[in-house]
Amino acid sequence: MTEELYRRLLAEAESDYEGFWARRAREEIDWIKPFTRTLDESNAPHYRWFDDGVLNVSVNCLDRHIAQRADKPAIVFEGEPGDVRVLTYRELLAEVGRFANALRAQGINTGDRVVIYMPMVPEAVIAMQACARIGAIHSVVFGGFSGESLKGRIIDAGATAVVTADGGHRGGRIIGLKAICDQVLDECPTVRTLFVLKRAGNAIAWRPGRDIWWHEAVADVSADCAPVAVGSEHPLYLLYTSGSTGRPKGIQHASAGYLLGTILTMRWVFDIREDDVFWCTADVGWVTGHSYVAYGPLACGATMVMYEGAPTIPDPGRFWDLCERHRVSVFYTAPTAIRALKKHGDDYPRGHDLSRLRLLGSVGEPINPEAWMWYYQVIGQGRCPIVDTWWQTETGVHMIAPIPGIVALKPGSCTRPLPGIVADVVDAEGTPVTAPDEGGFLVIKRPWPSMLRTIWGDPERYRETYWERFQNRYYVSGDGARRDADGYFWVMGRVDDVLKVSGHRLGTMEIESVLVAHPLIAEAAVVGRPDELTGEAICAFVVPRGPRPSGDERAALIAELRAWVGEKIGPIAKPADIRFADNLPKTRSGKIMRRLLRAVARGETVDEDVSTLENPDILRQLQGHDPQ
Ligand code: WT7
Repeated sequence: MTEELYRRLLAEAESDYEGFWARRAREEIDWIKPFTRTLDESNAPHYRWFDDGVLNVSVNCLDRHIAQRADKPAIVFEGEPGDVRVLTYRELLAEVGRFANALRAQGINTGDRVVIYMPMVPEAVIAMQACARIGAIHSVVFGGFSGESLKGRIIDAGATAVVTADGGHRGGRIIGLKAICDQVLDECPTVRTLFVLKRAGNAIAWRPGRDIWWHEAVADVSADCAPVAVGSEHPLYLLYTSGSTGRPKGIQHASAGYLLGTILTMRWVFDIREDDVFWCTADVGWVTGHSYVAYGPLACGATMVMYEGAPTIPDPGRFWDLCERHRVSVFYTAPTAIRALKKHGDDYPRGHDLSRLRLLGSVGEPINPEAWMWYYQVIGQGRCPIVDTWWQTETGVHMIAPIPGIVALKPGSCTRPLPGIVADVVDAEGTPVTAPDEGGFLVIKRPWPSMLRTIWGDPERYRETYWERFQNRYYVSGDGARRDADGYFWVMGRVDDVLKVSGHRLGTMEIESVLVAHPLIAEAAVVGRPDELTGEAICAFVVPRGPRPSGDERAALIAELRAWVGEKIGPIAKPADIRFADNLPKTRSGKIMRRLLRAVARGETVDEDVSTLENPDILRQLQGHDPQ
């Protein structure tokens, strides 16, 4: 982008908000039937965008490139064992068409929900695009989530089909995804079909009548699948994410507005060009893998790299080796990955030719200065801007991020809102914070096209979670932030009970309810504490039903509880610390004092007056002054 265009876009969005978005939507999307209405606020906060327009998202990602770039690589895939596969746009369109026809042959129709539980292989993207082609609503579940988590999401979504693989390669091992499906599908009565991709070749059980091999399902079907024309607001996908209370919520995204957001941010923030090789390292199980693997790069006709495995296999140089061999020019990853790789020293990146890189991106959590400097100097060799992108599952795409080459960078700041995004920092009353560097709630003051539309099956929770705090006036992100004297945003982290562990989002309540479901546990409270590698680490305070365990018994119970949480949610939710106590610090009305627990977890001294606690003595025990 040029400075002049940037200024013009900002001015246009400021003077004619709806017109700004309408023009972008006309420029960027191939419509089957153009829209005449831009924004419908009649049922706010369930906003509707471009609502009488008709389109197909997969046509916008695939078919429209056939005239210009049919033989251009769309996906350059590398498996953890080293197998490489390139799919051109023509080939990808044919694979998507075949699988879309295979879905149809199993009776899956427009509006049906399809859960995708896959390793990071091209078929994950093919399955998502195939759903979009027939208007089925996909819900991808990260392959690192447990069977219990998978089950909860299948049931909530009411999915009629699940797509999985025999297994995927991760960290030198095979993750048996099909076996995990087998454990839970009997308890998911809506599921009629389980598609199984043969990927890792591991032995699996088979349920005739329900299970169907991917390669058999696509063997005799046509590669041509007529795209289903859907309205702009037709749900494209559900993606479950953690909130501060209750079970994970199914964030529902719409078709046109979401697609538009992915295209614009690919252009504005990643400055995507015809000859780029783009690599976003996120798994398709997260929103980053939706917007910047499955949709955005394809909608822009880019070539992208997709990697199945862990960054340390066979050694911690794997990412840099991939960048070199596939000539990656734009690279997008999370601070936690940068910190983990930095730990292994400079020799790994220095041993690879990274001269093709021209732009680096960061996402998922604030990036600390040490990680930023290393990323900038050692990976980007002082040559590549770092775009620090702030956004959320709910926002669909980047909201606050620099335009490279135009908005000057400050390490640790995501800089300024993108054109058309009205972000602000407000105080507890909703009044904008004008004093520089004063913290407040990060809010977005006008609806934007790629925003979530609702929580699947729970519109009330949607309103309560995101809108109620400021009387439906602003979208409340759940993050705290401050703005400096230059108007730059600095995200300070969550203000609710949501944790970001290695960039992954987890609810403290979710982990607590799993802990108290264990037969030996009476009560539990979970808080985060800072961690050098993972950003935040999970710290659980647990009240056992019997006496506090000690010695070997204590170690065994800790191991047991960690395994329990891993089994119920997934390995990413296992607490780093588990501390046993006779009870928890509570107010006289019985509310757990999380603030105190956070201080204890950080090893800080609590000097405030705790005499109003129902049980002031418990603090000594939690701080470890009593024998454990
Ligand atoms: C939360 C959203 C964004 C897609 C992947 C994560 C934190 C995200 C940044 C950033 C500081 C960030 C926020 C946000 N976050 N990006 N650049 N700087 N914090 O999506 O799992 O929905 O998590 O991640 O706390 O609310 P998510």
